[in-house]
Amino acid sequence: MSILVLNGPNLSRLGKREPEVYGNKTLDDINRELSESFPEHSFEFFQSEDEGALLEKLFHIEDKGGYHGVVLNAGALTHYSIALRDAISAITIPVVEVHLSNIYAREEFRHKSVISAVCAGVISGFGANSYHLGVRALMGMASQGRS
Ligand code: DQA
Repeated sequence: MSILVLNGPNLSRLGKREPEVYGNKTLDDINRELSESFPEHSFEFFQSEDEGALLEKLFHIEDKGGYHGVVLNAGALTHYSIALRDAISAITIPVVEVHLSNIYAREEFRHKSVISAVCAGVISGFGANSYHLGVRALMGMASQGRS
């Protein structure tokens, strides 16, 4: 499978940023471990602080074709970006929403995700393993012919 791992604002700071919440691994560590854990899949990794760049990336892979799914940690955009929600709705490639932290165990403003309803599913609270579970979810969907 060809999988895009897409990370939004502030996830470039992993490793330095609130390690008690997000752990000690950097985004590069997480990405490397994904490639190592799933050598049978091909990964593309993209992170941006910019909402527009994330939307453009989604449209780019949709138009290019050949991608089987997206593992998306949208960061804070999760909670308010209707533009991101609309972009996910506008593409046919399945998107799995992931979060390192359990957003439901945190501040109330994080309990609401405006993208969940248009994602294939949500994985939240398992640290870096959330990304691995996201890949497994896409594999399960593909094996059921849902991607
Ligand atoms: C996050 C949770 C969001 O609420 C937060 O804004 C992030 C990271 C997570 O991975 O736990 O930037 O998506």
